[in-house]
Amino acid sequence: MKPTSENHDAIVLGAGAAGLFCAAQAGARGARVIVVDHAPEPGRKILISGGGRCNFTNIHATHERYLSANKHFARSALSRYTPADFLELVERYGIAWHEKTLGQLFCDGSAREILAMLVEECRIGGVEIACGLSLGEVSHADGMFHVRAGHRTLSARHLVIATGGPSIPKMGASGIAYDLARQFGLKVVQPRPALVPLTLPGDEALFRELSGVATPVEARVADGPWGKAAFREAALFTHRGLSGPAILQISSYWQRGTELGINFLPDLAAGWMVEAKKANPKVGLRRVLGAHLPDRLAVALADRLALAGDLGHHSDKALRAAEGALADWRFNPDGSEGYAKAEVTAGGIATTGLSQKTMEASTVPGLYAIGEAVDVTGWLGGYNFQWAWASGHAAGVAI
Ligand code: FDA
Repeated sequence: MKPTSENHDAIVLGAGAAGLFCAAQAGARGARVIVVDHAPEPGRKILISGGGRCNFTNIHATHERYLSANKHFARSALSRYTPADFLELVERYGIAWHEKTLGQLFCDGSAREILAMLVEECRIGGVEIACGLSLGEVSHADGMFHVRAGHRTLSARHLVIATGGPSIPKMGASGIAYDLARQFGLKVVQPRPALVPLTLPGDEALFRELSGVATPVEARVADGPWGKAAFREAALFTHRGLSGPAILQISSYWQRGTELGINFLPDLAAGWMVEAKKANPKVGLRRVLGAHLPDRLAVALADRLALAGDLGHHSDKALRAAEGALADWRFNPDGSEGYAKAEVTAGGIATTGLSQKTMEASTVPGLYAIGEAVDVTGWLGGYNFQWAWASGHAAGVAI
């Protein structure tokens, strides 16, 4: 059977957070919108997000908490659709929520409530969500975009790329956004796994024996390609290296060859070890560290510092040096656990070719890119969904 062409005002590629939200915004303003996805149902990443409770925004979401080759790009969209705006929608739907920590807002119940809200917003806007359709040829002629999607041929004056990045491929994630961007002459900033556990080489094997140990730290990158950054949260030793929120955060700023610094005792004042000696010269390093750190970690670090016997046997200078080592323990990760484990993809469609107000491509009128597909990557903690909502809103109201 010959496929018939269906006309819409906008075709949104990708029924994730950004695509659904954008479609609902455009639909609410009267546009005839279809959302196309190859997955069998919409919003799969929303369902697994925040451990099933969806950390749907962060009240501190300003552009400073996003990585991008253009640090200011996200400012406009984020300031025109704020965490308070999304929260107002969540409350309108009667979804119970709580602030967990560091401004992170989660559902009390389930991420399903957020997805159901987005689907309902699409229904109200008359949006068709067409899942389970594999994307074929995408073309552009006479001001119209044409998309082959499964057995259907769709045409519209507006095309929105909202297919995310390649992190978690087993959930249907792909790099198709970059292929489409390049097809239309847009540049792509080298994508890389971000918010991802880091792996340690063989000579750091001692730390691997600590697999399962978690402790609050400050993780730092002093001089990475994306500037310097420091995060005070928990770090977790794994059988392959390091994970936990502090490490996921710093991983976005890390690249191979860059050293990572970890302060194992960020809450202790300078000189604390000398003070500990004064208070009790007969105490050993293991016990002193054990008062502040998990036992296994205290033992491993004390062994590495090799200050045998009581603190009283060591000079203040030696103790200060040990304290300095604990405050800036250097790791040289040899890689990350890659897209299979990365919560997001950093890099992506270059912002240089997009309007920061509408997310429209400056050289291809009617073409938009939103969400994770774009070179804007948030910190851990609800920032990436806020970018999905804000960029989706920016494009949705412009269509
Ligand atoms: P998203 O990836 O959500 O959607 C893209 C859509 O495009 C998908 O439906 C996909 O099937 C479709 N698609 C891809 N390739 C296609 C193709 N070739 N053809 C057709 N369709 C295609 N963020 C946050 O702020 N708070 C949180 O709690 C979490 N938690 C979290 C947990 C886990 C395990 C992960 C992996 C990620 C998070 N995130 C998060 C990140 C967050 O999920 C992510 O930033 C957003 O989902 C991005 O939304 P997008 O709509 O841009 O892409």
